[in-house]
Amino acid sequence: MTALDLSSPVAVIGAGAMGAGIAQVAATAGHTVYVFDMSEEALERGISQISTFLARSVEKGKMEEADKDAILGRLHKVSTLEELKPAKLVIEAIVENLDVKRKVFGQLEDILSDDAILASNTSSLSITEIGATLKRPENLVGMHFFNPAPIMKLVEVIRGLATSDEIADIVFDTSVAWGKKTVFAKSTPGFIVNRVARSYYGEALRVAQEGGADYATIDACLREAGGFRMGPFELMDMIGNDVNFAVSNSVYNAYYQDPRFKPSLIQQEMVAAGRFGRKSGQGYYDYRDGAEKPEP
Ligand code: NAI
Repeated sequence: MTALDLSSPVAVIGAGAMGAGIAQVAATAGHTVYVFDMSEEALERGISQISTFLARSVEKGKMEEADKDAILGRLHKVSTLEELKPAKLVIEAIVENLDVKRKVFGQLEDILSDDAILASNTSSLSITEIGATLKRPENLVGMHFFNPAPIMKLVEVIRGLATSDEIADIVFDTSVAWGKKTVFAKSTPGFIVNRVARSYYGEALRVAQEGGADYATIDACLREAGGFRMGPFELMDMIGNDVNFAVSNSVYNAYYQDPRFKPSLIQQEMVAAGRFGRKSGQGYYDYRDGAEKPEP
């Protein structure tokens, strides 16, 4: 077992839907966790999201008050990347954009110790490509959690062409130690889950675009007959339509515009309208004023 020692601090960059959840997982496992976001507001929101989640766990009798306080005590908001210096593992969960991720990892290399592990929670970008501009690409690995990270069991550990076996093994074992069902995947576009899931969203969007059925009907069919926990539209609204559209484009382009992966104009319209799903109050469904999504 080569899991990261609990005395090793972890850092999470990006305190959005995924970053906050990942920070919670690492702090729950027992690590000191530094959380950075370029938006102070997002950082506050992320930490308060963790606090609410833990308070509910206490209410439901799933966690002791003292454990909740200990987890929150291990979480530290920071306002500069320099403050992440002590971290032995940095997990990046910022915007799904190659250039932005490359820039942040480049800055981190100058701050962290040479043996610090750089992990990206990217849903679809190539770990090989993110690492190509780094001084130490062997230290970069994909550590792909699913939403919501504290609940979803799966983590895909992604090796880029340059990722060292030692780093991949440490991240794999750390993920297992954090209670996750962990798998290795190579850096192919969309890895495993997001590659296969493109058809789940894509075909559902095609049915809707052709006027075959409305969103709620399609979701109900997939839930009831398909056995999926969530239908494609409610799932896209939870993931975030901005994030999901970026992933659709990235997988489509990585496969040389293979028509199988062509993003839908409906997605494009949703993003253009700022209808990102639950996080913005509107998406395929309307969540404003606490509205629940309609049943067919
Ligand atoms: P989000 O939009 O909820 O949060 C992203 C956060 O990163 C924001 O708070 C933003 O202020 C911050 N940020 C952006 N650029 C930054 C920078 N240069 N430096 C510091 N902070 C920065 O996005 P979400 O959904 O958390 O996704 C983050 C990453 O995780 C993306 O790469 C996405 O593909 C991936 N992912 C998303 C999943 C989902 O279901 N939403 C599931 C698994 C992976």
